Amino acid sequence: MKPTLALQIPLLLLLLVLPGQPQSLKEESAPCSVNCDKNQPEHELVKIVPGSVDEDGLCHCVVHLPNNLIPLNQLEQLQSITQELMDKYDKELSREAPTYSLLRLELEGARELVTQLMAKDGGNEAEDLLSQLQSQVANASLTLKLLADSDQRSLRAYRQELDILEGRLSDCEREKCQEASDPPVPPGSCAHAGLQKVSRPLVVQVNWRGFSHKAGVWGRDAAPNLDSSLYWVAPLGSEDRYFDYYRLYKSYDDLVLMKDFVERKMGYGDGSGNTVYENFMYFNYYGTRDIAKVNLSSNTLVLQRTLPSATYNNRFSYAGVPWKDIDFAGDEKGLWVLYATEESKGNLVVSRLNTSTLEVEKTWRTSQYKPAMSGAFMACGVLYALRPLSTRQEEIFYAFDTTTGRERHLSIVLDKMLETLHGINYSPLDHKLYVYNDGYLINYDLSFLTLKHKTTSLKALLASS
Ligand SMILES: *[C@@H]1O[C@H](CO)[C@@H](O)[C@H](O)[C@H]1NC(C)=O
Ligand SMILES: *[C@@H]1O[C@H](CO)[C@@H](O)[C@H](O)[C@H]1NC(C)=O
Ligand SMILES: *[C@@H]1O[C@H](CO)[C@@H](O)[C@H](O)[C@H]1NC(C)=O
Repeated sequence: MKPTLALQIPLLLLLLVLPGQPQSLKEESAPCSVNCDKNQPEHELVKIVPGSVDEDGLCHCVVHLPNNLIPLNQLEQLQSITQELMDKYDKELSREAPTYSLLRLELEGARELVTQLMAKDGGNEAEDLLSQLQSQVANASLTLKLLADSDQRSLRAYRQELDILEGRLSDCEREKCQEASDPPVPPGSCAHAGLQKVSRPLVVQVNWRGFSHKAGVWGRDAAPNLDSSLYWVAPLGSEDRYFDYYRLYKSYDDLVLMKDFVERKMGYGDGSGNTVYENFMYFNYYGTRDIAKVNLSSNTLVLQRTLPSATYNNRFSYAGVPWKDIDFAGDEKGLWVLYATEESKGNLVVSRLNTSTLEVEKTWRTSQYKPAMSGAFMACGVLYALRPLSTRQEEIFYAFDTTTGRERHLSIVLDKMLETLHGINYSPLDHKLYVYNDGYLINYDLSFLTLKHKTTSLKALLASS
């Protein structure tokens, strides 16, 4: 790149001082013996132009072209612009200051000037020269553009390479490194360093109320210290909004075979935010900011309490999942409720609940707008938020750790069978995610990073070096 530039610039100068055959002096100028080339020694071809000196001792040279007169001051202007450009090229080449965009602007200015000159002269040789000049400037401009582009390209390529390297590193951390030796995290344990990966979805069945019930929720009792293997399914009723009926199964096999279930009616809940924790179901009472608790043994509403400041009635639900303003989550650390308030401006807040009283024990604010997420769940006191990538993929993109109050961005992609993930519930006992996917019951296996393999970011390493 450098030699090309160095060659083109002197050429440009040379052409500028070749404005055709000088033919006559301006008539009003007195002949003078002072040669103009003294003042402009570098312009070899101008020195053969006769000049005249005025009273102030200034030398005037007028250059006549065969048919037309090009005002010398315009050429000088062009020349001085070129000189400026050359200086800047020199700087550029010596890598002092990157002024690519400014240079490009000025080159364009020079081209404009040449175009103007062309318009003034219809002549032959002059036109030839000027068109050469124009083409030269165009070439220089192109060269500059190439230079700038190639720099950007190499920067981009550098970044891409870095991203690929990072991806490979975390792939290795997520799969091969771990598979080699580590035992899986025991049920209910939080002795790990956070979510590592999510398996492909396993489709269990269509919900018991049929395809038309696109919205709903299902799961396993989220209590971490129970042997309970209570499974529950709650497809929503009309308008994909009302929680009314649910079924309970004593085992996964019963659920798969759809046998020995208990079917109940509970009216009414709003949306698909339900969770079952220690044999009680928690849900948002229809049309209110109340949270409610149902004894699943007796199907009785044992508690109903207002969730302070919570918005409801579809004010801040999730993207693509309406009526889920108040979303319950159970994990190793207890029972949580995920919602948004006017004060949080719609950003998701997490509260830990006292399961006996439904009082809020503590609340954490996240930086993420709840309606921009498609859903969320808790695992070991860490909130994981999802967003849709396409009709077939979802991404866990954000995590908020209530233990440390720290948030981070991550990217764990989930394949999905159909477009919308309605209910999303995590079970600490089997580390599975139970998802109600447009009428289908599906689940995913979650894996967690063991502590010794806690990810070290390549970017973080590079940034600190
Ligand atoms: C400009 O570039 C073209 C294509 O490389 C070339 O043919 C032409 O001679 C160049 N013009 C000048 C004035 O250098
Ligand atoms: C739940 O219902 C069962 C069956 O009626 C009852 O034995 C149990 O005490 C109830 N639990 C609570 C906390 O109300
Ligand atoms: C829940 O609240 C009750 C009544 O205030 C209290 O006795 C109990 O200790 C609380 N539970 C927890 C886990 O803090």
